[in-house]
Order: sequence, then structure tokens, then C-alpha cells
Amino acid sequence: MSAAQSETLKVAMPKGRIYKQASKLFREAGLPIPADFDDTRKLVIAVPEANMEFIMAKPVDVPTYVEYGVADIGIVGKDVLLEERRDVYELLDLGIAKCRMSVIGLPDWKPAIHPRVATKYPNVASQYFREQGQQVEVIKLNGSIELAPLIGLADRIVDMVETGQTLRDNGLVEMEQIFGITSRLVANRVSYRMNNQAIQNLCDLLQATLAAKA
Ligand code: PRP
Repeated sequence: MSAAQSETLKVAMPKGRIYKQASKLFREAGLPIPADFDDTRKLVIAVPEANMEFIMAKPVDVPTYVEYGVADIGIVGKDVLLEERRDVYELLDLGIAKCRMSVIGLPDWKPAIHPRVATKYPNVASQYFREQGQQVEVIKLNGSIELAPLIGLADRIVDMVETGQTLRDNGLVEMEQIFGITSRLVANRVSYRMNNQAIQNLCDLLQATLAAKA
């Protein structure tokens, strides 16, 4: 049975920095999230009382699971949505995991003859510099992006900044803020049509929970 026909709502949940805030929000909304939810290594967790099943996903893969309909809905950062460009329906700004996408460099940065920018977000970075009319070579890395300007791989990086601690600890500065980031609730387009009531109910519940906290 496809996710679209299933009555159980399949939710792709990002592991990592969004996860704790997302599970807290679900609990505040009164959903019966199991106590061991935060510690388990299980990848598929059924919550039959809520008619839900959680898929514990690598954050960058959430839009892929949702686009292909193996998850009806998912929670994903705006950074990943803009980078991955998957065909999903953005339902709600959850306002959690707030941070920003920025251009970062060393304090004494000067325009390079052959500028290189390292990032986990090559689509976002390429689009930004194209719009700025700047020609740069974008180098894709998978983590510890702040290393790049420190060891001379790139003269700038495009990365997310949350507390700014990583920048401070590595003597880097934020040069431009590109956009603000929060986590979003997204839906598979077919699931949204076929299982609209369940998805809309959850969306309304989360929206009311957020409004009550505001
Ligand atoms: C992210 C990001 C920065 C850091 C920003 O990395 O790439 O390095 O967090 O957070 P801060 O402003 O609070 O210091 P992450 O922790 O996801 O690990 P990574 O370097 O492996 O991508």
C-alpha cells in the first residue's frame, strides 16, 4: 500500500539539531510520543495511539522521502528545502531550530583573483553568488566547513550559523546573511490530497500549539 493510501500518517523526522525541538513541539501538541523516542536507535517507530509512524531520517534526506511518498509528511529546515529543491508541499513554518545561512570568511578577507567558496549547500551558494554577479568556484564539502578558509581550501564559506560559537572558536566572521532558517512541516503532494484530513488536523494542532506559545 502506498503512503498516500495508508491511514497511518508516516512522518519523516530529522535526526540531529532539529530533532529535540521537534519532538518537544509534538509533545506540547499532546501527541503521545514514546518516552524513549529521544534515545532509541530504532529507525521506524510506530505510535499506534496517534495513528502515526515516525521515520528517523538524516535531515538532508527528509524532502526525498516526502517527495517519493514513503513519508506523508516531514520536518525539514528551510536550508535543506532550498538546497535539495524537492517537489514537496510546504505546509507550516514551525519556527523551531532558528538559524541563518551566511557567507563567512577570515576577518582580513580580500577579493581573490580566483575566488573559491566551500559549502554543504552548493545550489544555495551558486545561486547567491550568481545573483550577486560574482564568479566563484563552489567546492562541495560534507561537514566541518569552517576548516576551508583556515587551511586555504577556499577564501569564503557559505554555511549555517546558529549560536556563532563555531565561528568565534575558529576566528571567522559573518560577512553577509543570505536568509533566515526555521524548520518547516512539508507534505507529499499526493498524500496531502488523499489523506488530507489527517494531515490538516496535525497541521492545525501544531499551528494552535505554536500560537498558544507565542
Ligand atoms: C553546523 C554548521 C556550523 C555550526 C553552526 O555544523 O555547519 O558548523 O553547526 O552552529 P553554531 O553557530 O551554533 O556554532 P554541524 O554541527 O551540523 O556539523 P558539521 O560541521 O559536521 O556540518
